[in-house]
Amino acid sequence: MSDRDNKKTIDKVLSFLESNKGQYVSGADMAESIGISRNAVWKAINELRSRGYDIESITNKGYMLSEDNDIISAEGIRSFIGPEYGCMAEHLFVYDSVDSTNNKAKEAALKGVCHGTCIIAARQDSGRGRRDHQFYSPEGGIYMSVVLLPDKIPFSKNDAVTAFIGVAVCKAIESLTGLKPVIMGINDLYLDGKKICGILIESGSEFDSGILQWIVAGIGINFDSDIKKFPRELKGNVTSLYPPGRGDMSKNRLIAKILENIDVLAKNSEKDIKKEFMKRRVEK
Ligand code: BTN
Repeated sequence: MSDRDNKKTIDKVLSFLESNKGQYVSGADMAESIGISRNAVWKAINELRSRGYDIESITNKGYMLSEDNDIISAEGIRSFIGPEYGCMAEHLFVYDSVDSTNNKAKEAALKGVCHGTCIIAARQDSGRGRRDHQFYSPEGGIYMSVVLLPDKIPFSKNDAVTAFIGVAVCKAIESLTGLKPVIMGINDLYLDGKKICGILIESGSEFDSGILQWIVAGIGINFDSDIKKFPRELKGNVTSLYPPGRGDMSKNRLIAKILENIDVLAKNSEKDIKKEFMKRRVEK
């Protein structure tokens, strides 16, 4: 089997396990549904285990991806996105580590990619914040950058796009956790007076005409980050949705909800977005 086919098999097995997370699925059913041998399933399971996936197995019951498993993957994200969100789920690129997901998304945007293309990383080595600040991006966070094409969203003014993304993230957190973050200023999300998420929106336009060509919306969320290990100057001002390793839902699920919200909210008018934004906004 070529490396490419092998990767495809592993992805399909992961996709099957993610869609049945917390339940046993038989090796035979998986093999038949994917169209591979049981031996190939077994090999893929071993490969996934070696990547850190917690997969239990019981004779005559099969395999189960543990609910506690919280590794970000395109397959895991897709298992939470309905087929109606096609363009938001199709082009997902997940990395263990990158310099900055915004950098990668901008490179992709310059090459010309589909609306909704999303770069996600488990950590960033040179995460970027607004005004050239660094954005500390250790494991435990969600770092994602979505490419938005101007003809696919009904607004292009800076503050409307920023409000749109802030509302999409807030609503995702609200609906999945019951927590109620506020939008501080224009694009920081706060919980109990501490920062939980930063948003960096960048764009590219044609120099002569000034026509906007692409937008990259970068979102960094402290999900189950170990705040105690953050640099001293940040520690007192930031918080995390969950304590380290104790998220009661997966990162994949929150990423999927954010992408879904971006798609749904893009069908709203600028006025509706503004209303949702103002409901959550607090002055700095
Ligand atoms: C800020 O707080 O000033 C904005 C922070 C934005 C951080 C996100 S994380 C994903 C994306 N990649 C980056 O390098 N920055 C944004």
